[in-house]
Amino acid sequence: MRNLLITGGAGFIGSNFVHYMLERYSDYRIVVFDKLTYAGRRENLLRWEGEPRFAFVQGDICDLAAVRSVVQTHEIDTIVNFAAETHVDRSILAPDAVVTTNVNGTWALLEVARELQLERFHQISTDEVYGAIPPPQRSREGDPLEPRSPYSASKAGAEHLVYAYYITYGLPVTTTRGSNNIGPYHYPEKAVPLFTTNALDDLPLPIYGDGLQMRDYQYVLDHCEGIDLVLHKGQLGEFYNVGTEVETTNIVMARKILDILGKPHSLITHVTDRAGHDRRYALDCSKLRALGWQSRHSFDEALERTVRWFVANEAWWRPLKSGEYLEYYRKQYGER
Ligand code: NAD
Ligand code: TYD
Repeated sequence: MRNLLITGGAGFIGSNFVHYMLERYSDYRIVVFDKLTYAGRRENLLRWEGEPRFAFVQGDICDLAAVRSVVQTHEIDTIVNFAAETHVDRSILAPDAVVTTNVNGTWALLEVARELQLERFHQISTDEVYGAIPPPQRSREGDPLEPRSPYSASKAGAEHLVYAYYITYGLPVTTTRGSNNIGPYHYPEKAVPLFTTNALDDLPLPIYGDGLQMRDYQYVLDHCEGIDLVLHKGQLGEFYNVGTEVETTNIVMARKILDILGKPHSLITHVTDRAGHDRRYALDCSKLRALGWQSRHSFDEALERTVRWFVANEAWWRPLKSGEYLEYYRKQYGER
C-alpha cells in the first residue's frame, strides 16, 4: 500500500483523513478524487498543494472512465471511498442523489478496482445501516442491516455491493461503520456545526421533535485512526464498527454547545421531527478494539475541541452559510 486514492477527500472526514495519513506515513502518496459538490472544499487540503506526495483530481465517482484514468495515471493500489451524499435531511428532500452517488458510484469504483486488480478497496460506511437500536441493545458487525432512511439504505446498498465483489470476484475489501463524527471542516448542515454556528450568531438551534434521540458523537481523528488500523490490520471481507460506545441525546448535546459558548439555553427551539427519525444508534466496537484501537476522545472533549475550532475558524464556515445553503435552510426549516 503506497498510492492511495481518497475519494471524497475534500469533504469533512475525507480531508481529516488525508491530513492524518500524509502526516503519519511519509512514504505514502495520496490522490484525492472529488466532485466538489456543495460539501467538498478544496481549501480543506490547501496545506498539501504543491507537495509531490499529494495530488487533487476533480471528478465524479459515477464516471467509470474518469475513475479508471485517475487510477492508471497515478498507479493507485488502494481506494478508500469516502465520496457520498451524506446528509439524511437532504436524502429525504431529494433521494435521487444518494442512490446515484452512494450506490452507482460505489459500483463504478468497485468495477475499476476489479479490472485493475487493486490491492485493497476500503468502504467508509455508517452505524445508520443497522437502523434504530432500542436500549440497551448494541449493534455488532454480524447483525442484520435494517436501514430506514434513503441515505442509510443507499449506504447499506453500497456495502452489499462491496461484499458481493469480495465473494464473487475475490476483490480484497474491508468496510468500517462509523458513528457520527465531529471536528474541523464539518459542513454546517449537520447538527453539531449547525447548532454551533447558529449559536455564535444568536440564532435558534432547531431540535427535531423531543430531542431525546441518541447519537454516538466521536472525534473525527479517532475515526481516522480506526480506518487506518483496518487498512493495515483488518481481515479481508470483514466489517468493523468505529465509535465511542457512549450515546448522548440531542438536547444534551445542544445544551453543552450553548454552555461552551456562554449562550442561553433559550436559543433551543423544538421543530417538527424528521420523517422516520431513528431514535438511537449504538455500536459495540469490541472487534476493532481487539485489533488494538481505542477511542481517545470522550464526547465532552470532542465537542469542546470542535466548538473551539468553529470559534477560531469563522473565515472557513461563514462563507458557506450563503447562497445554496440559505435556499436549503429555508426549504428544510422555513415551515417547521
Ligand atoms: P461530506 O458530505 O462532508 O463529504 C463528502 C465528499 O464527497 C465531498 O467532498 C463531496 O464533494 C464528495 N462527493 C460527493 N459526491 C461525489 C461524487 N459523485 N464523486 C466524487 N466525490 C463526491 O461527508 P463526510 O461527513 O465527510 O462523510 C464521508 C463518508 O463517511 C461518507 O461516505 C459518509 O457516508 C461516511 N460517514 C459519515 C459520518 C459522519 O458523521 N459524517 C459517519 C459515518 C460514516
Ligand atoms: P445529523 O448531524 O444530521 O446526523 P445523523 O442524522 O446522520 O445522525 O443529526 C444528528 C442528530 O441531530 C439527529 O438525531 C438529527 C438531529 N438534528 C436536529 O435535531 N436538528 C437539526 O437541525 C439537525 C440537522 C439534526
